[in-house]
Amino acid sequence: MCYAIPGRIIGINGRTATVDYFGEKRRAYTDLVEDAAVGDNVYAQGGFLIRKISQEEADEVLRTWEDIFFKLKEQDKKLAQDPKNLYERANAVRQGRQDNSCCVHGIIEFSNYCRCECLYCGIRSGNNNVRRYRMETPEILSAVDEAVSHGFQALVLQSGEDPYYTDDKLEVIVREIRARHPVLIFVSVGERSAAAYKRMYDAGARGVQLRFETSNPEIYKKIKPPSPRPSPSRGEGEGGGDPLENRLRLIRNVKDMGYLVVTGFLIGLPGQKNDDIMRDIKTTAGLGAEMFSFGPFIPHPQTPLADERTPSLKKVLNSVANARIMNPDAKILVTTALETLWGLDGAKSALMAGANSLMINVTPEKYRPFYDIYPDRFGTKIRIEEHIDIVVGLLRSIGRAATDLSV
Ligand code: 5AD
Repeated sequence: MCYAIPGRIIGINGRTATVDYFGEKRRAYTDLVEDAAVGDNVYAQGGFLIRKISQEEADEVLRTWEDIFFKLKEQDKKLAQDPKNLYERANAVRQGRQDNSCCVHGIIEFSNYCRCECLYCGIRSGNNNVRRYRMETPEILSAVDEAVSHGFQALVLQSGEDPYYTDDKLEVIVREIRARHPVLIFVSVGERSAAAYKRMYDAGARGVQLRFETSNPEIYKKIKPPSPRPSPSRGEGEGGGDPLENRLRLIRNVKDMGYLVVTGFLIGLPGQKNDDIMRDIKTTAGLGAEMFSFGPFIPHPQTPLADERTPSLKKVLNSVANARIMNPDAKILVTTALETLWGLDGAKSALMAGANSLMINVTPEKYRPFYDIYPDRFGTKIRIEEHIDIVVGLLRSIGRAATDLSV
């Protein structure tokens, strides 16, 4: 099973290759495949060439796609015709600008230790009811092996803010993965120094997933009190100042380093108004996010926000649609939190209101229940194969293809 369609390089200009997919031309950076040449068959993810494949392999994969490639596109186009309401308009914008491709990333949650005390989060350091786990480097590598064997080409490595993983360790993990597999690596390890992020970039990571959570400084201060423990890798001259500003600065910094940025916010935080959400959307865009990641806040019983309420599906879908209309070229993720509250029907509604990315949890099954940021997370009990079938089936039912063609 494969989550991307191979293309053929038809031109190279500087660090940019032009890749042909059944007659459609897209651009991708060549820096992860240094010997890329015209005529090569390649996979691309997130606008980067990921790996070359042989003519035989390309032919075989293309044969399976040939039949449905255009059929899916047709179906998607049909479903996007004659938009009448906000969601349909957003869907038409998505279809018109990005076609039917949908990113499907795998996520490995390698540690649930966290030095932070975020009021909304179940794995906050003060929650003594969480069974904590850490995966050592060899275990992380075998989880990556498994994900790759299922066909994933883009993986998110996520953890709480866990000082156990020093900058050295994180760099080694990224380098080892890149030495074994040509995958696009996103790191989601919270607030570390710019220097730490630079080291991971140089080791081969190309994406950072880090939400700013809310653009309202008052709400931010309330829900993210300063951690009693310092960041393991804060560089000289960093930190201090306004905590929201610090976080935004870090996101800008990693963007400037060349990372693809996945960022966003929580919907339904106490005290949050609709205007705040609109500002959150604008802030996400202002940070140059390739992918928007925002979802409902789900109260966790062992946190100070236990008695708060979840937002309505309508509020979340309206946010997806508004984000899409304001940002035709961004990828917009259907978050696990949305799937947790409203299941596959909810995911489908979001995909029909402008969203076009999904994640599949590929953490080893024995650890998955313990990454308990909110209760009953979707995907903790399903086997990876089953989850992939469900997602691919859902996408096909609405004319989408799990590919990463759009640059
Ligand atoms: N509900 C929804 N999302 C949550 N996160 C943490 N706790 C919750 C919760 N209770 C999200 C945060 C964080 C991401 C990894 O998980 O936005 O950035």
